[in-house]
Amino acid sequence: MKQYEEQLKLYANQVNDALRERLRFRPDCEQIIVVDAMRYSLLDAGKRIRAALVLEFGRLCGASRESATALACAVEMVHAYSLIHDDLPCMDDDDFRRGKPSCHKAFGEANALLAGDALLTLAFETAASASLDAELTVEAVKALAKAAGVQGMVGGQVIDLAYEGREIPLAVLDTLYALKTGALLRVSAHLGCLAGNAGRELQEAADGYARAYGLAFQITDDILDIVGDAAKLGKPVGSDAENQKTTYAVLVGVEQARQRARELIAEAKKYTAKFEDNGFLNWLADLVLTRDH
Ligand code: IPE
Ligand code: IPE
Ligand code: MG
Ligand code: MG
Ligand code: MG
Repeated sequence: MKQYEEQLKLYANQVNDALRERLRFRPDCEQIIVVDAMRYSLLDAGKRIRAALVLEFGRLCGASRESATALACAVEMVHAYSLIHDDLPCMDDDDFRRGKPSCHKAFGEANALLAGDALLTLAFETAASASLDAELTVEAVKALAKAAGVQGMVGGQVIDLAYEGREIPLAVLDTLYALKTGALLRVSAHLGCLAGNAGRELQEAADGYARAYGLAFQITDDILDIVGDAAKLGKPVGSDAENQKTTYAVLVGVEQARQRARELIAEAKKYTAKFEDNGFLNWLADLVLTRDH
């Protein structure tokens, strides 16, 4: 589907340009080392799936380009921070990310930690300046904070670490995925709708889509950690096994995991019927099942 591939590229370029603008600092400033680390991990890499969700739901709900772009940047900043910290020796201890040495390998642990912290805080500065009405701005900032925090991504990472080395019950695994990965994908869809001040029906459809999409996305990530190609992924394979994580693919086997991902993607696509112009959303959902990076 060339047209949608092109659209994803356009969205990625749009957000990359805006992110670059937001990371302009004087090269002679004393803290430039951490700015360089932020740039290194944030700019010009990553599939920009979360940004694409913000921008596409924003487009479907009539958001202004400026507001949707700012919110897309904010989510990608939170995501990049989560990856920097996820790779640290005290977490997954992975040396490669997005096709190059992980942030802590390139800049040292302390700078990687601080670059993550700085990206997280810059995300909220960015979301707060998205040129929305005051009420919508507060709602956006609250939603992003919840999705990033202990009731969202951080909470999922805590559960992920807590179950290293022991088998995780399936129901807990679903919660873990919904939090560590699903929360940021869901809030991306939510922020896009919010930027367009969408009504409840569209918000709920977007949320149903993103909820199923998020679970399928992490299941695929786990499958790729077993059968993927590190060169294509730009990150190591076998990391989960090394850290003794009982992922979905380990628990039920790769084939059954693929089947579950297919079911979830079918479920996600049911929700797109609420949007007339849903070609991109359906394509993006199917991409989860065929992606190799
Ligand atoms: C990787 O996310 C971490 C997970 C939540 C599975 P992505 O696969 O979206 O990573 P990038 O942004 O494309 O590098
Ligand atoms: C990460 O899950 C989710 C985050 C919140 C960063 P993984 O640890 O499986 O992600 P990768 O495989 O390192 O990208
Ligand atoms: Mg991890
Ligand atoms: Mg990891
Ligand atoms: Mg993984």
